Amino acid sequence: MNKFLQDAGIEVPIIGGPMYPCSNPELVAAVSEAGGIGIIQPISLTYVHGYDFQEGIRYIKSLSSKPIGMNVLIEKSSKKYEDKMKEWLDIALDEGIRFFITSLGKPDWVVQKVHAVGGKVYHDVTELKWAKIAVKAKVDGLICVNANAGGHAGDIEAPCLYEDLKELGLPLVCAGGVGDKKAYVEMLSLGYLGVQMGTRFIATVECEVPSDYKEAIIKACKDDIVFSLNLTGVKVSVINTPYIQRLGLKPNFIVSWMLENSILKGLVRIIYMLRSIKNLKGLVKGKKSQQGFFQAGKSVEGIRKVETVKKVIHSFIH
Ligand SMILES: Cc1cc2nc3c(=O)[nH]c(=O)nc-3n(C[C@H](O)[C@H](O)[C@H](O)COP(=O)(O)O)c2cc1C
Repeated sequence: MNKFLQDAGIEVPIIGGPMYPCSNPELVAAVSEAGGIGIIQPISLTYVHGYDFQEGIRYIKSLSSKPIGMNVLIEKSSKKYEDKMKEWLDIALDEGIRFFITSLGKPDWVVQKVHAVGGKVYHDVTELKWAKIAVKAKVDGLICVNANAGGHAGDIEAPCLYEDLKELGLPLVCAGGVGDKKAYVEMLSLGYLGVQMGTRFIATVECEVPSDYKEAIIKACKDDIVFSLNLTGVKVSVINTPYIQRLGLKPNFIVSWMLENSILKGLVRIIYMLRSIKNLKGLVKGKKSQQGFFQAGKSVEGIRKVETVKKVIHSFIH
C-alpha cells in the first residue's frame, strides 16, 4: 500500500478535491464511499449549502462511514476568518476527521493540531518555492497543483512539477488535468501516488450544480478553457463562454493597479469575493446557472458523460 493511501486510510488513490461552491455533502460522501476520499470545503458546506459545520460533518458521516477529509484555507486577511477556520478545524478533529488539505499560506498551526491527534496534512503547492515552506512546516505530503487544474491553476505541467518536487521525499498527489482513466494511469506512472480531481466530479449525478454546468463540461474540450484574472484577482480556470468574454480575462487598469498595491489588494479581493459569493450561491440546489460562469479545468477533454461517482471511480480502477 502506498504512503498516500496509508495516510488517508483509503483503498483507491483518488481525492474528491475541495470545491467552492460545488462540494455538496452528498458529493463528498460519494467519493469516500467509492473508496477514494471526499474533502469538505468548509465555506461551501456552511455558507453555500447551508449546514452548521458540525451538523454537516455528521450528515456526511451518516452517508458514508469511510474516511473523509477537510480543506483548511489559510488566509491571514481577516482575524475573524482565521478564527472561524481554527474553530472549524477543532470541530473536524472532534468529529474524527484525520486527513486535511491546506491551501495558501503557512500550514504550521494546522500541522501542530493535526499531528497532536495522529492525523495527516497535505499542502497544496504549485511550485518548489511553496513546497519548501510546507516541508519546513512538517506537512506529510503535497497536492501538486499543475497548469491544467480547475480552480486556481498553477503554471507548471504535471511531469515537470513531479520532477521539481520529488527530491523533497514526500508523497506527491497530482491535481489537475485528470478527467479519464488514460490521464489517471499516466499520472500514476509518472510517480504520483494519487490524483486529486475536481472538474470530473462536477459532472456527476451527486454534484448539485445545475445541469447546464454539467453539460458545459461534457461538451467542452481543453481549448475551451481560459484563465481569468477578472473573477477573484487570482488566475481562475473557466470555460470560455460569452459571459467570460464580455467580462474580459484581465482586470481594468485601475483594478490592476490596486492589485499591485499591498494594502488595496485586500480590498479588491474582498469585492471580488462578495461578487463571486453572490454569483456562485445561485449555482447550487438545481437553480439555473448564472450567466455562463463555469469553473472547470482542462480535464474537460476526457469527460464525456454525467455519471455517478461510483461509476467514475470504478471506470478508473478496473
Ligand atoms: C469549481 C472549483 C472550485 C474549487 N475550489 C477549491 C477550493 O475551494 N479549495 C481548494 O483547495 N481547491 C479548489 N479547487 C481545486 C480542486 O480541489 C482540484 O485541485 C482541481 O479541480 C483539480 O483539477 P481538475 O479540475 O482538472 O480535476 C477547485 C476546483 C474547481 C473546479
